[in-house]
Amino acid sequence: MTLTAQPTYFGHGGAHPYERSLLGGGALTLRAVGDTSITAGRAGEIPDPTVCAPGAACSAASAATTIMDVDRYTAEADAADLSVIEHSAGSVIDLGCGPGRMVRAAIVSGRFALGIDVSATAVAMAHVSGLPVLRHDINDALPLEGKWGTALLLDGNIGIGGDPRALLNRARLLVNPQGLVIVETSAGEGEERCFLAEVRDRCGRSSEPFPWAQIGAGPLTRIAAEVGLQVEARWSVGGYGEGGNEAGADAEAADVEAAGVRTFVALSA
Ligand SMILES: C[S@@+](CC[C@H](N)C(=O)[O-])C[C@H]1O[C@@H](n2cnc3c(N)ncnc32)[C@H](O)[C@@H]1O
Repeated sequence: MTLTAQPTYFGHGGAHPYERSLLGGGALTLRAVGDTSITAGRAGEIPDPTVCAPGAACSAASAATTIMDVDRYTAEADAADLSVIEHSAGSVIDLGCGPGRMVRAAIVSGRFALGIDVSATAVAMAHVSGLPVLRHDINDALPLEGKWGTALLLDGNIGIGGDPRALLNRARLLVNPQGLVIVETSAGEGEERCFLAEVRDRCGRSSEPFPWAQIGAGPLTRIAAEVGLQVEARWSVGGYGEGGNEAGADAEAADVEAAGVRTFVALSA
C-alpha cells in the first residue's frame, strides 16, 4: 500500500535539524525509525514500511546510528573530495549537493558543474557563495540529461529515496554513454540497508521520517550491474580534513570506520 503525503526528504520536516545544522553548525545523528525495511519510492509517497522494493534485497535496519558531519558540508573540499574530482570525467553534476562544496571544487579544477538539491537553505547558501545550484528533486527533469560527464552521489547520498537501484538508474540516465557515476559507499563492505530514518541535531531536534539506504561496496557492485553499470575504479581516502591518504581497497571495515576512511566507487555504462 502506498499513501500520498508531503514529501519526506533527508532531514526535512519536524524541527528542521538539517537546515539548522547547516546554518548553526554541528553534527547530525541518523538512525532508523522502528526496525523495518521499506519499499522505496519517490519522496511524496510514504512507502509501506514492511516490504522491500522488488528485488531490492534490503535487510531490516539495525538500531545503529550514523554520525553525519554537517560542518564538512559547509567547509572547503578536503583531500577525499578532491580525489573524487581527480577520478571524475568531464562536466560534473552533484546530486544532493548541499551548500555546494563539490560544485565549487569541480569549478575550481576547470570543470563545468551544477549542483541539485531540494533543501531551500542549502541552495540559498550555495547561491550566496555564487555557485550554480538548482533547487530540484533529482527525479525532476534536469538540465542536460544524458550529457553529463560525471554524476556524483557522495556523503551517503546513495541513500536518497531509500532505493539504490532506482537512484543508480536515474544517475546513469543523466550521464553520457561514456560517463561515470561516482558513489561514496558505506564503510561496511557488505552493508545493505533500506529503512525509514530520521536525523537529530545536537539539541535532540528531529526530522520527519524519510526513506534512506546505506550500501557497502559489495552490494553496490551487484545493484549497479543490475542497471547496466560496471565498476571502473574503487579507492579509499583516509580521514576527513587536510592530508587524507589514498588507502588500499581491502582495508577492514572496522579499521576503515575507526580511521574515518571514505570509500568511493566509479561506475561506467
Ligand atoms: C547527506 S546530505 C549530503 C550533503 C552534501 N552532499 C553536501 O556536500 O553538502 C543529503 C543531501 O541531499 C539532499 N536531498 C535529499 N533528497 C533529495 C532529492 N530527492 N533530490 C535532491 N536533493 C535531495 C538533501 O537536501 C541534502 O542536502
